[in-house]
Amino acid sequence: MSNPPCDAPLCVLDEVGSTNDEALAMARGGAPSGAAVMAHRQLAGRGQHGRSWVTLAGTHLYLSAIYRPTLPLNKVAGLTLEVGNAVADALASLGVEIALKWPNDVMLADKKVGGVLCELHADLPVIICGVGLNVTAASADELARIEPAATTLSNHADAPVELTTLARAVHSSLRDAFARYESAGQPNIDGYSKRLWSLGKTVRLSDAANPRTGTVRGLSDDGGLLVQWSDTGETGTVTTARIQHVFASDG
Ligand code: BTN
Repeated sequence: MSNPPCDAPLCVLDEVGSTNDEALAMARGGAPSGAAVMAHRQLAGRGQHGRSWVTLAGTHLYLSAIYRPTLPLNKVAGLTLEVGNAVADALASLGVEIALKWPNDVMLADKKVGGVLCELHADLPVIICGVGLNVTAASADELARIEPAATTLSNHADAPVELTTLARAVHSSLRDAFARYESAGQPNIDGYSKRLWSLGKTVRLSDAANPRTGTVRGLSDDGGLLVQWSDTGETGTVTTARIQHVFASDG
């Protein structure tokens, strides 16, 4: 599928494979840091850990922005948290208070309302930051079938959430976040901590040789998850995303 070239700060397309791929193509074509693309439908949307991100019937946000780091690439791992916080700021500006499930889920009323997928392309170098938000489901049944633990913004907002307004707010907040990250070299830990849905939750580290469970105590200075392990009582820092929140949707 090929879409016409676009050099607007925020390109709006009808249908794409993945907005992350469209944004990467724009970056390879020379689009600047902060340029973004959104689409009404994705045919091959991606989530974390190689999962698919299904386009649901209704109105939803699929938006990806280009970040061209001048920081050393070993400093960019925290960008996912920065982007999550930027999404939260954008939603707060529209009157919707969300929480953040470390490291990439956007939560509303204890259900997943969206997610963040940042992909590094070290050859350019560029990081494509994709944001998916469930806005208004055309069919509550479909949403429940595909994502039982999911919700939409419209289910909880006082007034209808208008897609263009939301996209502009998220885009503007992402641009601010990229600038902030560029100068700080690390995510906004205070901002993320205040919204940390994971706090106090039981988690299981699933990629260890001996899976361990523990309780989330907060974030480390560089954005890792501080977990107090049940077996030893000691608190350690988890940096892998292969952590599952027990008794909640996985991720
Ligand atoms: C997750 O929670 O697993 C992350 C989901 C990220 C989905 C967004 S939708 C816009 C962008 N394009 C993609 O293919 N994925 C991200």
